[in-house]
Amino acid sequence: MNRRWGIGVLGTGRGMSYVHAYSHHPDTEVLALCGLDRPRLEAAAAGSGVEGLSLYSDYEEMLRREDIDIIVVASDGTLHAQHSRMALDARKAVLSEVPADYSYEECVRLAEKVEKTGLRYMMAENCLYFPYIPTLKGYIDAGKLGKVVYAESEYVHDVRHIYYRDEQGNHYTREEAQKHPGAKRTWRSGIHPMQYITHSLGPLLYLLDDRCIRVSCLSTGAHTSPEDGNPDAEVAIFQTVRGRVFKILIAHTIAHPGNSWYTLMGTRGSVETTRGSAPRPVVYFEEEGVTHKWREVEWDDFNAPISEEAAASGHGGSDWLTADAFIQGMKSGAMPVDIYRTMDFTIPGICAVHSALNNGASVEIPDFRTDARNEWPEG
Ligand SMILES: NC(=O)c1ccc[n+]([C@@H]2O[C@H](COP(=O)([O-])OP(=O)(O)OC[C@H]3O[C@@H](n4cnc5c(N)ncnc54)[C@H](O)[C@@H]3O)[C@@H](O)[C@H]2O)c1
Repeated sequence: MNRRWGIGVLGTGRGMSYVHAYSHHPDTEVLALCGLDRPRLEAAAAGSGVEGLSLYSDYEEMLRREDIDIIVVASDGTLHAQHSRMALDARKAVLSEVPADYSYEECVRLAEKVEKTGLRYMMAENCLYFPYIPTLKGYIDAGKLGKVVYAESEYVHDVRHIYYRDEQGNHYTREEAQKHPGAKRTWRSGIHPMQYITHSLGPLLYLLDDRCIRVSCLSTGAHTSPEDGNPDAEVAIFQTVRGRVFKILIAHTIAHPGNSWYTLMGTRGSVETTRGSAPRPVVYFEEEGVTHKWREVEWDDFNAPISEEAAASGHGGSDWLTADAFIQGMKSGAMPVDIYRTMDFTIPGICAVHSALNNGASVEIPDFRTDARNEWPEG
């Protein structure tokens, strides 16, 4: 297919990664950018280097453009489903930032809308495209781990410095915001970290071709920034449909350096990406001898090679690879993270928070491919 798709981007923060990717992609042209704060919108457009970008503060006005085929939804996390539904109603395909939404009911409405319109939708889970994901998949497919029975992941990212923002787009901590009268609380202040689970869960489910069916979760409560109300950290244990157990820790409001980490444990071996001060990933394959010792893997052997365009993009090249995967999905009709996989990655976080609010009670996780999604029992 030779035609170029017209792109409209909603959101002037994370959205700019997609402005960058799609202004360099051979199949796409970025036509419009939308954001509420005019000074931030104008500064983002000026910094993008993309000429002739139309700027909107009214999302519905951008949606009325007939030359826009695809909307990238990179608005407040709590508005993703609503903004995705509006785009689908306007007959646009959607690439949405993670997670699909923070509300269970909104996720149901979104799934219904995608089914009803028959339009293309993908959730942009960029961690699936980290360059070491193909290596982990290779270990699994080659049987080096045997049967993977247990996995852990964690996403520790102290984001207190972006809980407040002024209309120019400058971010502040709560303390700094007291000195900047224009700074307002953003959607990130007050949310449960476990709902930002897709970076941690998505790769595990993708690698193991699995789905979570049950969860029990505990929360520390909000001690680090009680005024914001974000729990410091939440940890959840999941059971999967293939009988595995996962443990996932997410922390956004905690005095700890950033960390995104995965480990897989199998009947014949294990692998662990870097965590804390560890300089390299490690593997333990019994086929190399029952040594009970990790073997370090050189980064060049752990990361698959990536293209120049990918290398120039953010998050280890995964931002470009995600943007491109969506376009390949537009061409083939098979979205790499379709609406059901999106919900496999998103809904366990919502159910986990429900568990945490009920002292760790076990919560069943509905499969959005079935009517079970309409049976969310407790509010
Ligand atoms: N995948 C990743 O690696 C990654 C990285 C960063 C952020 N994110 C996600 O991307 C999303 C956006 O994050 P962010 O940091 O850019 O957030 P942000 O709060 O900085 O930006 C949100 C943008 O949406 C716009 N917006 C919201 N409602 C609007 C409306 N009704 N009309 C027009 N514009 C509207 C705001 O004006 C703003 O430009 C979040 O869900 C975040 O979690 C993902």
